[in-house]
Amino acid sequence: MTKIEVSNLKVVVIGGSGFVGQGILKYLANDSDFNLTSISRSGQPRVNQAWIHEVKWICSDVNEDKNWKEVVENADWVIDLIGVLFEKNYHEYQQKSVKPAKRLIKHLHYKAKSTRFLFVSAKKAPFFLKNYMRAKKEVEREIMQKLSGRGYIVYPGMIYAKERKMVCLTANLLNCAMRMPVLKRMLAVYKPIKRINFSYEIKRILLGYNSYLL
Ligand SMILES: NC(=O)c1ccc[n+]([C@@H]2O[C@H](COP(=O)([O-])OP(=O)(O)OC[C@H]3O[C@@H](n4cnc5c(N)ncnc54)[C@H](OP(=O)(O)O)[C@@H]3O)[C@@H](O)[C@H]2O)c1
Repeated sequence: MTKIEVSNLKVVVIGGSGFVGQGILKYLANDSDFNLTSISRSGQPRVNQAWIHEVKWICSDVNEDKNWKEVVENADWVIDLIGVLFEKNYHEYQQKSVKPAKRLIKHLHYKAKSTRFLFVSAKKAPFFLKNYMRAKKEVEREIMQKLSGRGYIVYPGMIYAKERKMVCLTANLLNCAMRMPVLKRMLAVYKPIKRINFSYEIKRILLGYNSYLL
């Protein structure tokens, strides 16, 4: 990867108000070289912490309005974190995860020729989430076709932090199970990652370094 000039790096996080997004933005807010914007339908989350003020929070529905377009055009990086986990059928995944991603990708393709795009896919999911993975793959194909050379895809396992108690518990159980050699190989594809470590890897990618998540 090409090292990136780090000064006022404009990073737009689509879905920055969500669980993963807040983790990334909180982490990047420690570094004044990043100029941070979040786009989501709900805008600024109700969190009483100093880092919140380091982010510009924009309310926009990528599926419905145009408020996101200008800020995305002027970004150095766009990180797409829109992705529903549970839906009743593939059509719903398409509407809620694939459609907004395709709108973003299309806009970057035509209007922002140098903006880089980072998509958070997933390493693996159990069989009952096959449509979740199918939606991820559909977005990945679109990135390959339309943003070749500036589209980046990361493949994390479960991302956990204390703010999501059940996820944290599951991750801890998985980590315990993986201490057993026989289960370690079987469960390797589900290896959880702490949200802060995930955010560290994202920062590396934004700065042009390699990451094991790519
Ligand atoms: N959490 C994990 O363990 C994990 C593991 C692997 C991959 N991932 C992937 O990482 C991404 C983020 O996951 P997460 O757990 O942070 O999900 P999340 O908490 O549900 O966050 C999703 C974010 O997207 C926003 N959003 C949804 N639809 C939108 C739309 N139409 N327009 C604008 N914003 C929209 C949501 O805000 P509003 O509802 O306010 O719009 C929210 O900020 C997903 O793609 C997920 O598949 C997560």
